Amino acid sequence: MSIKEAYCRAHTNIALIKYWGKSDPVNIVPTSSSLSLTLDRFYTDTRVSFQAQLDQDQFFLNGQEQEKAERDKISRFLDHFRQLSGVNYRAQVSSYNHVPTAAGLASSASAYAALAGACREALDLDLTDSQLSRFARRGSGSATRSIFGGFVEWSQGSSPENSMAIPIDAANWDIGMVVIAVNKGAKKISSRQGMAHTLATSPFYEEWVKQSRQDLDEIKTAIAQRDFTTVGQIAEANAMRMHATTLAANPPFTYFEEETLTAIRAVQDLRAAGYDVYYTIDAGPNVKILCPASQMTAIEEALGQYFASEKIISTLPGGPIQILSEWTYDNND
Ligand code: ADP
Ligand code: DP6
Repeated sequence: MSIKEAYCRAHTNIALIKYWGKSDPVNIVPTSSSLSLTLDRFYTDTRVSFQAQLDQDQFFLNGQEQEKAERDKISRFLDHFRQLSGVNYRAQVSSYNHVPTAAGLASSASAYAALAGACREALDLDLTDSQLSRFARRGSGSATRSIFGGFVEWSQGSSPENSMAIPIDAANWDIGMVVIAVNKGAKKISSRQGMAHTLATSPFYEEWVKQSRQDLDEIKTAIAQRDFTTVGQIAEANAMRMHATTLAANPPFTYFEEETLTAIRAVQDLRAAGYDVYYTIDAGPNVKILCPASQMTAIEEALGQYFASEKIISTLPGGPIQILSEWTYDNND
């Protein structure tokens, strides 16, 4: 087996049918399947190098060496690759997020997809992309879907072995997303904590799972028919159903902030004005608007009445993970 230094880029993804709860928290198997759109604008670049002389894993994020808790997460993730490859070297991992970290803009998705892709390349592992998505899942569930571009399903599966991503459609039709980054700061309740608390205490949870399965079937049909409006309507309803589970949790909580509601109202106003726009919201206050790419510039302009322009970021659908041929960041971290 050859071991080399490897660099990988992965894009974030935003779920249109949300993953919100685990049936197996140790192996990160979800209670229901989900479906997302990979985004071009937001991504993570990760470098990994397994080295015989290291006595512990090292982890740098955006040039800063991370503390033990973050390093331990990375180590546990690398262990899956060490186990598979039989290579027991520790590794140096350096990662740069081109997306705010822990703000509900899916940094953990691009992070673990990029690290998984870099590990496959570094250790020369014979894994298909779907097989690799099973590994990405162990870092963060949503990372499963970031292995592929376009619309991607994370099929729940019946066991840790067959819970993996499936590419659904390249999304190379008239689709875009406008993100309203109302708050780029780190959230107080992580996705992991939020979904566990909801599953354990929300009386709405069972209904959420049932409805989400139906939403998934319907959105897949709408994607196959390239029926944008139905895709948007289902995505918006599914997001609100997820957030309803948090309001019914005990104690209740919400990821919404004041400006989240302003953004929802803005989308409703735009829709009334004839734009084909639908919002979705993850475990954070930021709002993502699904829209036809051809309307993106006009929508950005219209949103200028509600938000400062630096809070509005447009993006097209993104592609799959990609091995980078060189590392353009500072090589010391
Ligand atoms: P987000 O909405 O950004 O995905 P989460 O709370 O789900 O928020 O995940 C954020 C966590 O993901 C961070 O606290 C960190 O542990 C991990 N993470 C983010 N970026 C990276 C990265 N580039 N490499 C490794 N881990 C990362
Ligand atoms: C609301 O994938 O971040 O964004 O598996 O615990 O790391 P862990 O959670 P994570 O959760 C994402 C939740 C979501 C919905 C989604 O992306 O499907």
